[in-house]
Amino acid sequence: MRAGLTEDPIVIIRYALGLAAMILALGATAEPTAEQRTAIEDRIKPIGEVCLQGDSECGGAAVAASSGPRSGEDVYNSACMACHGTGAGGAPVLGDVAAWADRIAKGNDALYASGINGVPGTGMIAKGGCMNCSDEEINAAVDYMVAGSQ
Ligand code: HEC
Repeated sequence: MRAGLTEDPIVIIRYALGLAAMILALGATAEPTAEQRTAIEDRIKPIGEVCLQGDSECGGAAVAASSGPRSGEDVYNSACMACHGTGAGGAPVLGDVAAWADRIAKGNDALYASGINGVPGTGMIAKGGCMNCSDEEINAAVDYMVAGSQ
């Protein structure tokens, strides 16, 4: 029997499949519509945008400059309250007028020195352990405690 192209069903099916694959491939590579294009661009755009100093259009507020020294209250809350809010280790408690009276009588300079250098032999370590606090910030925290304890 002569195997003719059109007589062989398997070959016909192969051709049909090949044709179908080509049509599918053409469909897949078709140009997206403008709408699809924006949607795609939207999905693949970078999350952040680089903006150079001086650019006016930077989206969002300019990076805030260093906000300056922390307030006495902030420093107290983060670095001093653990002891001075509870009396731990014999720390004079904020608001305890009697505990602070004699200390306040020594004057601000003495208290600032204690805040910055600590009180040797007691739980009052230098800067209350806040080693990234500036002297200025420690003094503000001392002021805050003194103001709240007389
Ligand atoms: C680990 C506990 C602890 C922490 C934290 C701490 N203190 Fe104290 N502080 C003490 C103790 C205890 C005393 C009492 C020392 C003494 O016997 O005179 C004291 C005393 C003081 C005094 C009085 C010192 C004097 O000369 O009478 C000041 C002022 C003071 N602390 C400031 C601060 C400041 C400001 C901070 C936070 C930046 C702070 N302390 C954090 C434990 C602490």
